[in-house]
Amino acid sequence: MTVDLLLGLQWGDEGKGKIVDVLTSKYDIIARFQGGPNAGHTLEFDGIKHVLRTIPSGIFHKNNINIIGNGVVIDPVVFKSEIDGLAKFNLDLKSKLIISRKAHLILPTHRLLDAASETAKGKAKIGSTLKGISPTYMDKTGRNGIRVGDIELADFKDKYRALANKHEEMIAFYDVAIQYNLPELEKEFFEAIEDLRKLDFIDSEEYLAKAQKEGKSILCEGAQGSLLDVDFGTYPFVTSSNTTAAGACTGLGIAPNKIKEVFGIFKAYTTRVGSGPFPTEDFGDDGDVMAKVGNEFGSVTGRKRRCGWLDLVALKYAIQINGVTQLMMMKGDVLSGFETLKVCTGYNYKGEVIHHLPFNIEEENVTPIYTEFKGWAQDLTGLTTFESLPKELKDYIEFIEKEVEVPIKIISVGPDRKQTIMK
Ligand code: IMP
Repeated sequence: MTVDLLLGLQWGDEGKGKIVDVLTSKYDIIARFQGGPNAGHTLEFDGIKHVLRTIPSGIFHKNNINIIGNGVVIDPVVFKSEIDGLAKFNLDLKSKLIISRKAHLILPTHRLLDAASETAKGKAKIGSTLKGISPTYMDKTGRNGIRVGDIELADFKDKYRALANKHEEMIAFYDVAIQYNLPELEKEFFEAIEDLRKLDFIDSEEYLAKAQKEGKSILCEGAQGSLLDVDFGTYPFVTSSNTTAAGACTGLGIAPNKIKEVFGIFKAYTTRVGSGPFPTEDFGDDGDVMAKVGNEFGSVTGRKRRCGWLDLVALKYAIQINGVTQLMMMKGDVLSGFETLKVCTGYNYKGEVIHHLPFNIEEENVTPIYTEFKGWAQDLTGLTTFESLPKELKDYIEFIEKEVEVPIKIISVGPDRKQTIMK
């Protein structure tokens, strides 16, 4: 029996989907614990590229169960399109995919509220994916939400109506121009609910407790990244869930002392999509090259990601919060061709050198301090062993490991399953 946990250590888009997919054959159960369709977990195998939003990244492997935990928020409409998109793979979803009754539903009016709230914020907008994430979690913590289990109850439609009416009043309160046709959105929503009903709903905490007793192995899959955590991220420019390790306990009902390995995923550089502080952001050619070579465009929104150098201050912080035991470095191949690489090892903050994330990070009060490394020209995408990596990359890896005091066990050199080097 083992429960391991895999999560992103930066601002999301680290490549969690690929690594879950690579590791999946070792686990009986893959369980997603937070977030919703704001996530886009990209998997590539056999020349196929597929983006998952709410469904755990283990879905393509045989002989495992994929659970959507209570900490996740589900938009039935997006979920339906995700299920439809999987049809060509002939997966037995009914037996492979199960959903917690306690997961909350994203209603069409949650999406509208998200748009109204962001529009009202003007320049201070979060840069939300506008999938209704924040209003849904607000209803959850405000004790107004509708859960998957409510679908099975006789008063589901009444509950829906009461909440949607309240949302309409709130949308009007924002006093911003949001165009919508609610009956149309509701038709789509209730059709999608019928599709959701075809799957099995479970009490995931009971299911997972039983699985542990039976000696099954479980991988908890996080979404977004640690710096987007609602408590520990760059608030308010964060998402609305706990993306850090504690989120796996609350989002699945797994006790903290059951978690063994914590796999932390990070990119060899840094990206961020949406607004908010990003000390090592590169506004020049280097950032542009990273975006281009790394194909840094959002898999959900298509937005260009902001790019910059690896920030070890932020990485150490994320490792500490999560108790990371093993690191996985993604997109090492994207750094090929840079003459010089930079890694941030501290910040100049109000005339002082600091090595932690200050409460308030603003461009004018935080300047990164960089250590420079010699780059390499070699294309890494065809390499399969650690020994074959260029010396300069090995030096880069060794430096990171020394600084953060956690070993890097996997180096990814391309999007395909096969482009994964184990160390
Ligand atoms: P929301 O969670 O859609 O409201 O977005 C809040 C912030 O988190 C925005 O800056 C988004 O760009 C960012 N965000 C949300 N989900 C992801 C993700 O899966 N990858 C990267 N950024 C994300």
